[in-house]
Amino acid sequence: MLKHETLTVRELVPGDIASLRRLLETSEYTYARFAEDELARMLATRPGVGTFSTPPGPLGRIGRGSLLGFLLASSVVPPSAWVGGFGVTWSQGAHFAEHLDLLLPAVERPLAALGTRMLYYSGSDTEADWLKPALEARGFQMVTLLRAYDKEGTEIPMEGNQRVRVRPFTAADVRGVLDVEHACFDQLWHYDAEGFLEVAATYPYFVVAEDERGIAGYQFNAVDFRGGYLVRIAVHPRAEGQGIGARLMAEAIRYFKREQAGRILLNTEERNHRAHRLYERFGFHLAPQRGFVLGRPIAPPVAAP
Ligand SMILES: CC(C)(COP(=O)(O)OP(=O)(O)OC[C@H]1O[C@@H](n2cnc3c(N)ncnc32)[C@H](O)[C@@H]1OP(=O)(O)O)[C@@H](O)C(=O)NCCC(=O)NCCS
Repeated sequence: MLKHETLTVRELVPGDIASLRRLLETSEYTYARFAEDELARMLATRPGVGTFSTPPGPLGRIGRGSLLGFLLASSVVPPSAWVGGFGVTWSQGAHFAEHLDLLLPAVERPLAALGTRMLYYSGSDTEADWLKPALEARGFQMVTLLRAYDKEGTEIPMEGNQRVRVRPFTAADVRGVLDVEHACFDQLWHYDAEGFLEVAATYPYFVVAEDERGIAGYQFNAVDFRGGYLVRIAVHPRAEGQGIGARLMAEAIRYFKREQAGRILLNTEERNHRAHRLYERFGFHLAPQRGFVLGRPIAPPVAAP
């Protein structure tokens, strides 16, 4: 059992980064939707809380305590926020649900103050996700199922629309990209202006497609040692069905080829048939595993009496 009398819950601060890294490196009871080098930026910009064991008495009041568990929000675009990471130390593995009970309300308070009303969690395997049952027992409900697609090699079966200009995103494109975003995606998936600027600063590839009316679409990707990740592709409904999606795909695959990523992966919603057709036309194969998104409402902040 956890010794509650010595367990404290507090906001994570930059001084906790080394302990967080250690926890992520040494425990298998972790969930992280971020790369290690993003941790400092996440802590500085998003709500994050930890459970700490502190010795009883005066000693406990002096030190920071030792980190036993953490919960970090990732994308926060009110009214939606996402769980970016959760974990407990190896020795607390059997008690992870107790940490969840302490950390969820603690992270939801600052999120509510920011105007967030739903907290989402995304897992990559409906059948085998270790956190899913515990989250469902705490009121998280299925929001949508996800499909994973992958493609071996970098063959480009079609070039798509050659009249649009595809060029790197610049900060001046934020307005146009936000218009595409709002027209294309449900609120839970939205990036805001800050989010797009962060994508531009941290992702290696982010382009827009421009026609005579302005920005018609956008697309961004990531790469690591496992392969390439086609993170987002979007074309404004006003310009759909003109081969712009195909053009952005062709350019993306060319980029992955330059980066020598032999395998390309992506995720999409189970119900997004238009996107499935685009991916399948480009030689992507459906992976058997189904991802998912769970969500739970966050209560508005209680007004001071
Ligand atoms: C999925 C998406 C990117 C496709 O973009 P698009 O620009 O419409 O894609 P294309 O024009 O290349 O292809 C769409 C259809 O138009 C057809 N088409 C393409 N060029 C055409 C042309 N010149 N004349 C007639 N039809 C054409 C294609 O054959 C395709 O038909 P299909 O859907 O029946 O297979 C777009 O619908 C979108 O942004 N959706 C919302 C965001 C989203 O879901 N993104 C994916 C998840 S991240």
